[in-house]
Amino acid sequence: MRRSGVILAITAIVLFGAWWFYESRDPVPWSDIEIDKLRSLWIGGLPPVPPDPSNRVADDRRAAELGHKLFFDPRLSGNGNVSCAVCHQPARRFTDGLPKGRAIGLSKRNTPSIVGTAYSPWLFWDGRKDSQWSQALEPLENPAEHGGNRMQYVRLIACDPEYRAGYEALFGTLPDFSDYSRFPEAAAPGVNPEWNAAWQLMSSEDQERINEVFINIGKMIAAYERLLLPAPSRFDAYIEAVLDGDDIAQQMIFNDAEIRGLRLFINDARCTECHNGPLFTNNEFHNTGILSYPGEVPDRGRSNGMRKVLGDPFNCLGHYSDAAERRCAELSFVRTGIELVGAMRTPSLRNLEDTSPYMHKGQMISLAEILDHYNRAPPAMIGHNESSPLGLSRSELRQLEAFLETLAAPPATTTQWLAPPDSAN
Ligand code: HEC
Ligand code: HEC
Repeated sequence: MRRSGVILAITAIVLFGAWWFYESRDPVPWSDIEIDKLRSLWIGGLPPVPPDPSNRVADDRRAAELGHKLFFDPRLSGNGNVSCAVCHQPARRFTDGLPKGRAIGLSKRNTPSIVGTAYSPWLFWDGRKDSQWSQALEPLENPAEHGGNRMQYVRLIACDPEYRAGYEALFGTLPDFSDYSRFPEAAAPGVNPEWNAAWQLMSSEDQERINEVFINIGKMIAAYERLLLPAPSRFDAYIEAVLDGDDIAQQMIFNDAEIRGLRLFINDARCTECHNGPLFTNNEFHNTGILSYPGEVPDRGRSNGMRKVLGDPFNCLGHYSDAAERRCAELSFVRTGIELVGAMRTPSLRNLEDTSPYMHKGQMISLAEILDHYNRAPPAMIGHNESSPLGLSRSELRQLEAFLETLAAPPATTTQWLAPPDSAN
């Protein structure tokens, strides 16, 4: 008995020694091919925010200032309590810490960050919007979110002296909305029967006058959102050291586990098939076999989102867009196909700190849980899971997790834009 105890102890020591030796080896130097991959992920390669020809005030500072005020203004809601910042909280990288957004009611999906969305050709998990300005209009009239109507919002712009003056300086004189027989208290097309009835009674010219101002609210909010950009993280400092060939700096910035995790990320774990480029997203839609939210039918994702964006009067091809028609390349060459059933937009991985729960309905709480999911690649509940099992060991999964944590960084935006403006109500 005693002898077998000793053998057991020796085996344990040998195994531990072998593991320790494996873990503490010096990491292999990066190959040229790997260095190219690393450079492609580096924030230093991020181009300036692309122009948005569909929004002529996209880069107008005055529009951004008004958009900033609108973003934090709870008067833009049905109950006077909901601003965009209720769900997109600056302190949480513009998310809310909930599985699904919550304001007047419950949103259908998880609240994504807004940081860096100016680079995204598609907005929402299913990409049903193709510009930031058009996106911003949807929560305003969503009964579960801001729950108001466009007539009410347009009147706020007309009646608040600061909004009115700022608006007119940007877009010209506002129409006169004071005649309540033509412009009732509340009106909007859509799900609210009273508002919809009031809307349908209006002349199409008056509907157009309201739409014009409503659209410009979205365009001002978008001008603000374009200022919310990601900053270099510890990962980027490491890449800079790699590109400079500075071994000492590399060792000071990343530990071995993080280096190994990064190597897995770009090679064996195949993450860069979708999470690529300086924002760690290919801006495409993929089915990765994420389980449905408990008690709900699986989300059809992009296959519905694609139909919605093509039929949206507020898309880049519509007459509210300031773009010349031929510049709507994304919309004109939109990808369709059966593989889009259950597909969601690849999210950036630069906002993982403080943005749990993750995935389109907040189905996952921790990074460990996510990595376990990719390692198993279970069959999808709807459509087809594009990824296949990875066969990584537990310690490899921990290394991947350690690497993902190095991507955290606060937004590059000055603090002035991260809090409500002084003049906000
Ligand atoms: C009740 C919470 C809530 C409020 C209020 C809210 N949002 Fe959102 N936001 C969400 C949710 C949930 C999604 C994802 C919905 C989906 O994909 O179907 C989202 C998505 C977005 C996106 C897309 C991000 C991406 O990566 O695709 C942007 C941009 C955004 N919201 C901006 C705004 C603005 C601007 C306002 C104010 C006008 C606003 N939101 C108000 C919850 C909210
Ligand atoms: C086939 C494309 C694809 C591959 C490969 C892929 N991802 Fe994803 N990733 C996605 C999509 C799409 C989502 C959103 C899925 C959803 O919500 O249904 C996502 C979500 C995530 C999230 C959650 C982010 C958030 O804010 O909610 C993390 C973290 C993540 N992936 C990390 C990884 C890692 C690490 C790997 C490699 C092991 C990987 N991904 C491989 C496409 C991919």
